[in-house]
Amino acid sequence: MPMLTPDKPYQDGLPLPFAATPIADGVLPLPASGRGRKHGTSSTEPFDRWFRYPAGFASDYVTSLLAHLELSPGELVVDPFAGSAVTGTAARQAGLSFFGVEAHPVIAELGQLKLQAAPQNTRPFPEVVKDLIAAADSQAHTAESRLDDEPDLVKRCFSRPVLARLTSLRDLVKRGAAEEWHLHAKWALLGTLRDVASARVGWPYQRPGSERKPVYTDPLARFLKRATWIYEDVQRVSTTARVPLSVVHGDSRSADSWSSIPEGSAHGCVSSPPYLNNFDYADATRLELYFWGEISSWAEMCTSVRADMLTATTQQSSVGAAMNARSALQSFGAINRTIEDIVDKLAAERTARRRGKEYDRVVPDYFLAIGQVLQQLARAMHPGASAIWLVGDSAPYGVYVDTPGIISEIAQAVGFSSEKDVVLRRRGQRWASNTTRHDVDLSERMIVLRRMS
Ligand SMILES: C[S@@+](CC[C@H](N)C(=O)[O-])C[C@H]1O[C@@H](n2cnc3c(N)ncnc32)[C@H](O)[C@@H]1O
Repeated sequence: MPMLTPDKPYQDGLPLPFAATPIADGVLPLPASGRGRKHGTSSTEPFDRWFRYPAGFASDYVTSLLAHLELSPGELVVDPFAGSAVTGTAARQAGLSFFGVEAHPVIAELGQLKLQAAPQNTRPFPEVVKDLIAAADSQAHTAESRLDDEPDLVKRCFSRPVLARLTSLRDLVKRGAAEEWHLHAKWALLGTLRDVASARVGWPYQRPGSERKPVYTDPLARFLKRATWIYEDVQRVSTTARVPLSVVHGDSRSADSWSSIPEGSAHGCVSSPPYLNNFDYADATRLELYFWGEISSWAEMCTSVRADMLTATTQQSSVGAAMNARSALQSFGAINRTIEDIVDKLAAERTARRRGKEYDRVVPDYFLAIGQVLQQLARAMHPGASAIWLVGDSAPYGVYVDTPGIISEIAQAVGFSSEKDVVLRRRGQRWASNTTRHDVDLSERMIVLRRMS
């Protein structure tokens, strides 16, 4: 089948995921929950609402993509970039089994938690939470006297009375007061942080120097609300007839991360890799990481949170890794020349600037990593099974990088055929700077790959 371009969306053969909606000007419409939201998982849908991960999918969208795969009950869906497991919860809802890999340790924990059965034979979560709240309120005064020990970022994001209640809750949960609901309480609290912050903590950057009116003023009431949502959502999931569902923390480039599923066992994949747009998933969760004590310095962020993540930002790039990647990319065939051409243009743009950014070092490392993930995915997928990836293109320093097109070509070098490449929506340019003019129209695209026999 010829490679489909965004200008020639697929119109026959496989049903489109939004078959009911006509295609206008070659652009597929977004599902309703995606409209008007810049990024992130839904703040109203069950499970998505636990924590608004800015990199997340809209879950109704994933549901429609899974329907498009036409899988049989119990069949395995995989996601090499599982994030907060939106594909996982949508797969469970559709009666499918799920396996995901996620490199961010704390987001992987959230994904795993969403897929777990609720603790059984224990006190109901709301009862536990009410006790926690009463204890936190009574200890808030003492907690306020200890706030000086909190990380600077955390201290600057909240008023002292609010932070005293948050830290008091945190310390109680850490000491085991949430019983079997420990992780659910942790995530109800982490979800509360940005709701009650009095500094600009919108995604992806946390700006403690910039004040704002908190969206909610009472942290304890907000914690209760979030815990109630979590309890409602876990109650919805049947505890009988469960299919295997898991997220592992790891690097999806590595065979070890996939060792718990047999080769050829996956019948579908719905995923979204990091975009080549300088979005730093580790930094985006800095507030939660510092608050919970997962990290206490930037060095720890790099060694413990970013360790398994593929390079998609200039902060992660290095000369040595880029050189190795350029040589390894030769094994992916002709597409290597396209990547080399982009790298040369980006190197020229960098050297033309006084403090140019190293986009030319990110690009080869990124595409090599994507190729390695696709190799693992090819091994995991059953012949004939389809993988749907959502990914945007980019234009650092005005140099156009057709990320979805290049990924499709790399996929063909490692055992997939390219079935579709469709524009989903036009989007903005994160890498744009006021020294760079872009007349490139960027978009988010859906590529569909099929595992060849
Ligand atoms: C676009 S997000 C996907 C989010 C996910 N669809 C969700 O609903 O939350 C890409 C994810 O890939 C993760 N990631 C980056 N490098 C990875 C790697 N080498 N292995 C596994 N996950 C990785 C990032 O931490 C991020 O969560």
